[in-house]
Parts: sequence; structure tokens; C-alpha cells
Amino acid sequence: MNLNIAVIPGDGIGPEVTEQALKVTKAIASKFGHELNYLNALMGACAIDATGNPYPPETHEICMNSQAVLFGAIGDPKYDNDPSAKVRPEQGLLEMRQKLGLYANIRPTITFKPLISKSPLKEELVDGADFVAIRELTGGIYFGEPRGRSENGEKAFDTCVYTREEIHRIAKLAFEYAQRRRKKLTAVDKANILATSRLWRETIKAMAPDYPDVELEFLFVDAAAMRIIQWPKGFDVIVTENLFGDILTDEASVITGSMGMSPSASIGLHTSVFEPIHGSYPQAAGKNIANPCATILSAAMMFEYAFKLQDEAALIKEAVDQSLENGIVTEDIAGKDKAYSTSEVGDWIVNYIQNK
Ligand code: IPM
Ligand code: MN
Repeated sequence: MNLNIAVIPGDGIGPEVTEQALKVTKAIASKFGHELNYLNALMGACAIDATGNPYPPETHEICMNSQAVLFGAIGDPKYDNDPSAKVRPEQGLLEMRQKLGLYANIRPTITFKPLISKSPLKEELVDGADFVAIRELTGGIYFGEPRGRSENGEKAFDTCVYTREEIHRIAKLAFEYAQRRRKKLTAVDKANILATSRLWRETIKAMAPDYPDVELEFLFVDAAAMRIIQWPKGFDVIVTENLFGDILTDEASVITGSMGMSPSASIGLHTSVFEPIHGSYPQAAGKNIANPCATILSAAMMFEYAFKLQDEAALIKEAVDQSLENGIVTEDIAGKDKAYSTSEVGDWIVNYIQNK
């Protein structure tokens, strides 16, 4: 099969971790006899530096013409520390999500046996936790208008907007996802306060009779934040709006043991994007110490979702599992044990795949 992908390394540790995921993708392609073609594209701070635009039109074109996008991370402290900056790296990511119509971001939380002791949570709480958060990705407060500052600069505002249609399409995906798993769906909102959340609840309630095999529960986001830590095994599929999903999935990565282990798939109307949930971790950039597994596991999701190649995806996951079993891990996981570099972990995983 021909695999045509776009690779967007981005900023910070993005290039280092993406390089490992690309190496793994190449190894899988050659093992299974696929022809891999890829094009690199710019996004984020590096794109602003090169072109003035965080999501240049050429990048969009490359994405639209690819079957999948493998993406690292974006963001740079020089923008974080300058609230008056007119263009920001994050605008590139948001524009890509919007232009590719990536309304659903699928973020699995699982546990790996060798990492269970790394979670700050009690072993019996996290062992066996396995749920998927489906985060709405192109609506809500991330995109709502109006947004900005009052003329005198003394007031700032953001607007949360959702239409019934936007809620319906993400909820449909979540119900169907739950049907293929343990058939439990938790819809997270703040319906006691927010009008948008009440529309979420109303829309999802009205859909429930079409999915009689799915047990549906509603949870306020504050309670959900607590329950994720207190009883992670109580969740199967979670569906929620953009901002709540952003926050809850960072929290959920604590269950796995490291942000560096959490992959995601962003799917929707056009080309799907596969991206780790972590950011650009600028303090580690260029040091060859960042954990590449979240991006490597995102490549596994690419094989699964974009190419429907399950054996290829399974072998990547097995290789990552084995790297953990053998203690070939970066410093975020190693603790007092020996830490390997980003590229050593990537090499080990590639080698495992080649020799399998
Ligand atoms: C994520 C990130 C992004 C988000 C940032 C970098 C804009 O935190 O993918 O979760 O908030 O969506
Ligand atoms: Mn985030």
C-alpha cells in the first residue's frame, strides 16, 4: 500500500520526538511492504520565524494532499512571555484543526504494567485503567467570537459557543465508540452554570434512545476531575467540550505515569492528524532527553485510524511495551534507574520491529 503522509515536527522537542516516530513508521512500512512517502511541513514558532505565518498555506496544502499528518508539538517561551505578541505559534495549531475540520480528538488513557509504580496514584487504583476521552476540538471557547480586550485594555473576554450540530456529530462518534468498547459513555459538562453545557446535555440526552446498549451518565467537570483520580477504572468513554477535554486529559496522563506516554488522533472532515498530547517542553529541546513514546504511539494510531492497518499498529504498541519491560526509557520514567536518550529509545524500538 502507498502511505503518503505529512510530517510536521514543530517546535521545542517536536523535531526530536517526531524523528523517532518517523523512524518507526519507516521500519513498519518496510517490514510490511508498504511504500512510504512523506513531506515535511512547517507549523508553529518555526513557521513564524521562516514565513511570518504559524500555519503557512503551503503547509495546509501538504496536509490536504496527504493521507495522514504526523505532528510533534508547537510553542515557544518567547511568545508565552509576551502577551502582546500579535502572532502566536498556537494559532497555527488551531488554524490547522479548524481548516482540516478535526472536530474529534481521541485521547486514550491506558496503563503499562512496568509504569504502574511511576504513577503517584495507588497501584490498585490505576492497574487496569482503560478509558478514552473524546475531546471536541474545533469549537467552544478556543474559537468563539467575540474575543479580545476592551479599548482601554482593562477588560478581556472569550466566548464559548456550540451549535447543536457540533455537539451531535461529536456525541455520535462517542456513542459509536462506546458501542465498540465496554458500552459506557460519560458526558462531562458544567450544565449547572453554562448555557453551552445545557445544550450539550439536551442534545446528548435526545440521542440516547438511539443507543439503548450504551449506558449514559452525565458528570459535572469539577466532579469528573476528582473522579478521574479517585476511580479511573469507572470510565470507559468520556465525551466533552474542547477546554474541559484539554484539561482532563493532561490530568489523566498521571494515571499512565508520564505525559510522554499519551498519544492522540484528531479526526474529522479532511486529513487526520496524529499528535502526542504533550506540548513542546522547551526546557528539554535539543537535549535528546524527551520521551518519544507518545509520538511513536501516535504513529500507531495513524496506522490504525488513517490506514486501517491493525497489525502494523499492534506491532508498534508491542515494541513500545517491550521497551518499557526492558527498562529502555527516558528520564521522565527512569527515576533512579538508568535513563536512555530520545534517540536510543527510538533506535531500540526500531530494532525490535526489524527483528520481530
Ligand atoms: C493540546 C495542547 C494545545 C491545546 C495547545 C498547544 C494549543 O495543549 O493539544 O492539548 O490547548 O489544544
Ligand atoms: Mn493540552
